[in-house]
Amino acid sequence: MPLAQVPLWPEQASTIAPRVDALTIFLIALSAFFTIVIFTTLIYFAAKYRRRYPDQQGEPVKGGLQLELTWTIIPLLIALGIFAWGADVYFEVAHAPDDSMDVYVVGKQWMWYTQHMTGQRENQGLTVPLGRSVKLTMVSQDVIHDFSMPAFRIKMDVVPGRASSMWFKATKTGKFHLFCGEYCGTNHSRMVGWVTVLEPTQFQQWLGSLKVDGSPASEGRKLFLKYQCATCHSGDAQARAPLLENLYGKKVALEGGGSVLADDDYIRESILLPDAKIVAGYRPIMPSFRGQISDVELLQLVAFIKALGPGQTPPRIEEGEPPAAAPQLQPQQKKP
Ligand code: CUA
Repeated sequence: MPLAQVPLWPEQASTIAPRVDALTIFLIALSAFFTIVIFTTLIYFAAKYRRRYPDQQGEPVKGGLQLELTWTIIPLLIALGIFAWGADVYFEVAHAPDDSMDVYVVGKQWMWYTQHMTGQRENQGLTVPLGRSVKLTMVSQDVIHDFSMPAFRIKMDVVPGRASSMWFKATKTGKFHLFCGEYCGTNHSRMVGWVTVLEPTQFQQWLGSLKVDGSPASEGRKLFLKYQCATCHSGDAQARAPLLENLYGKKVALEGGGSVLADDDYIRESILLPDAKIVAGYRPIMPSFRGQISDVELLQLVAFIKALGPGQTPPRIEEGEPPAAAPQLQPQQKKP
C-alpha cells in the first residue's frame, strides 16, 4: 500500500469532526515541537558543557528570574488555551441543538439496538438523515458499554442506571463504522454495526418501509397505566399530583420558591427521586421508582410524558388487579 493511502484518520463525516481533528492535530504538533526543542537543546548542551578534563569542576549555577518567569508563564498560557479550546469543543458535543431528532440507543451484552421516536427499531445499526442534528439518548441493560462512531468523532460511555446523551450532524451519506468502545465481556468485539446516512427523502422512505412495533411514547403509556401513575397524576378535583399534560419544556414553580425547566433530566429525576423537587402546591407523597423500573422503561415513560398533550392523560383505573410490580410505599427507600 503506498504511504499516501495509509489511513491516518478515519473519514470526517460530521460537523464536529473537523473541530475534534484540529484540536488533536494541534496537540500532536505542540508535543512534537517541544520534543524537538527539548532534545535538540539537551544534545547541544551535553556536547557544549561536557567535561573536558578529568578534574574539571562545574560552574556554580545562579538563578535567572527572567528565564524562570518565561518558562512558567508561556506554558501556563498554552495550557489554559488548550483547556479553553477543549472545553469549547466539549460543550458543543454536550449540548444538542433544540431542533434535534431524538433516537434512543440501548446497549446490552452483546448488541446495540436503536429506536426512532416513531417506533422503528434497528439491531446493530443506526440510520439517520443527512444534515439533520441527531440526539442520542443511551442506556445500558447490563454493564458499561460505549457507543463509538469514529467517522463522526463522538463516543460516550453507556452506563447502567443513567441515561447519557450526545449528538451529531452527518455531513456525508454512506455507511460508517459503529463500535462498542468499552470492553464488556466475551463478545465485546462483535458488538459492532453500521451507521447509515441517507438523503432526507430516502430516509423518510426508509422510515416508512419499516414495520412499527410500538413507539417509545406508546410503550410509555402502557407503563403509565401499569404503574397506575394516573391514580394521582389525573385531571380531576381529587388529584394529589400535578397533571403532566403539556409539561415538557415548561417552567415549573417549586414548593419553597424557585422554578425548574421540565426537561428530560427533571422528568427522570422526578420518577427516581420524587422528593428532590416538589411542585408548588403539592405534598411529597410520591414513592420512588428507583429499582422498580428499568432504564429502558424509564426512557419510554419519559418519552410518553414528553409527548403528552392536553386531554391525553389515560383515565384512572379504580378496579382491576394491582400492578405486578407495584412500588412499595416506604417513607425512605434504602440506597443500594
Ligand atoms: Cu459492549 Cu464492549
